Amino acid sequence: MAEQKATNVHWHDHKVASADRKKLNGHKGAVVWFTGLSACGKSTIANTVDHKLHELGKHTYILDGDNVRMGLNKNLGFSAEDRAENIRRIGEVAKLFADAGLITLTAFISPYRADRDGVRALMPEGEFIEILVDASIETCEKRDPKGLYKKARAGEIKGFTGIDDPYEAPEKPELVLDSNNKGIDELADEVVAFLKSKGLLSV
Ligand code: ADX
Repeated sequence: MAEQKATNVHWHDHKVASADRKKLNGHKGAVVWFTGLSACGKSTIANTVDHKLHELGKHTYILDGDNVRMGLNKNLGFSAEDRAENIRRIGEVAKLFADAGLITLTAFISPYRADRDGVRALMPEGEFIEILVDASIETCEKRDPKGLYKKARAGEIKGFTGIDDPYEAPEKPELVLDSNNKGIDELADEVVAFLKSKGLLSV
């Protein structure tokens, strides 16, 4: 939990309420939180879901690991403390985007359960959808699109998730995607169907 350092600050409610934005958009805002090992398919699936929702006329946005780490979170590394701060900031930003009416897709390893639960606690009930992109370490290592597993095995990267750093899978995710055996398009369809079944794609 981050310390509240600023004093004499007060919350402002705005004239245009969250509900007004939803009505205008024709659907709800939410945070769709993909979690899983590096190379499990998080970003690719999130991108495909984003595209499918866009085609359906939904308002969306993606927050993606490497991109956020090159801007907002460029001062953070991969210690447990830095990963916690990475996820905390992203959670706060995702919450604002969802409040603005966007279906906000996030693709971060987010290896620690407590960090993900912290984001869940920020969100209104039913508006945080945690999705485990389930791929074994063997599958991810075989894919290794950025060559990072190879480097981690060679000792060139220390504290790499799944190799010499922990990954805590969610205990009760809203959805589990079988990325060992199924293709991107099929998995993205599962996500869209789930969001629809929860009433998030309409007002
Ligand atoms: S998280 O753990 O804080 O959620 P995040 O998703 O932002 O991680 O960043 C992960 C990406 O950073 C990986 O996909 C990989 O490209 C890169 N990376 C570099 N070093 C590491 C590391 N030690 N562990 C995991 N990913 C790393």
